[in-house]
Amino acid sequence: MESQLALEFVRVTEAAALQSAQWTGRGDKNSADEAATVAIRTHFNAVSMDGTVVIGEGEMDEAPMLYIGERVGNRRGPAIDIAVDPLEGTETVANGLNNALSVIAAAPRGGLLHAPDMYMQKMAVGPALAGKLSLDDPIPATLSKAARILGKSLSELTVSILDRTRHAGIIKLLRESGVRIKLLGHGDVMGAIETCLDSGVDLHIGSGGAPEGVLAAAALKCMGGEIQGRLLPHGEEEIERCKRMGIADPGALLSMDDMVGRQGVMFVATGVTPGEWLQGVRSLPGHRAETHSVVMHSETKTIRFVRSIHHTTDASGTLAAAASS
Ligand code: FBP
Repeated sequence: MESQLALEFVRVTEAAALQSAQWTGRGDKNSADEAATVAIRTHFNAVSMDGTVVIGEGEMDEAPMLYIGERVGNRRGPAIDIAVDPLEGTETVANGLNNALSVIAAAPRGGLLHAPDMYMQKMAVGPALAGKLSLDDPIPATLSKAARILGKSLSELTVSILDRTRHAGIIKLLRESGVRIKLLGHGDVMGAIETCLDSGVDLHIGSGGAPEGVLAAAALKCMGGEIQGRLLPHGEEEIERCKRMGIADPGALLSMDDMVGRQGVMFVATGVTPGEWLQGVRSLPGHRAETHSVVMHSETKTIRFVRSIHHTTDASGTLAAAASS
């Protein structure tokens, strides 16, 4: 699956990044998301796969495209499950902030959890802590264990978490333990990925979107890290929704295997706004634009960075052709 599809997926996320980046700092997250979604849907038509969207823009009755169950691709390739977030960080783009991405994860059919659009409790760690902690343990015990394994004191540990009022209790516990806290405005896919980079972040915890949890699981599987999750259905309707999506026990602890299967998974992302890992879309003179993408596969653990110069047909950034390096 890797070599044939990798570049085709990069073209798809590049197109989404180019289109949504035009909405950077314009205070309109819906238009930014729509631009990315339309670009992804259009460019999927050319991809050599028989793809099914298992994580996308919502259920069929609430999303006009990239809805759960939608068939995508030219049907002339492998049967693949797709998790797609055309724009991870809609408010990030609207507010002109860093670290918005366009993201796709792909696995052989049946390989990805059909995660409903609800919150998921998460704990993500890099390779040094992978397989060594449990989401079921109390947070103080987890922090002590992580510090011991890493050979650090608690004051040297850094934990990232979305800056939300629902996290007030966890943030209080973190403060009491003495760790450093990196409060994230948005974007917990990148928050989880940062645990696998030389970012200084040791753990990412807290709740965020369940679809983003599966996308993060795909990335971390490729990078040797680990994420554990637990769906947080709110009320009977959300419990029923889990069951309709094939999740028999909505309260179960979800491992990486539960989220992205045991077969290979591919993760592709293009930076929309600037970030330390992936640079954002940059306009160049002469109706050109530069994008930075990453392609990773869990079987080979290869991490490829793709820098592309796109020739756009006009100043609006409409894509004409691309050259990659
Ligand atoms: P969007 O791109 O859909 O705006 O999601 C951004 C995000 O920060 C995700 O990374 C995260 O999982 C989720 O929102 C958290 O949701 P909330 O903002 O409700 O806490």
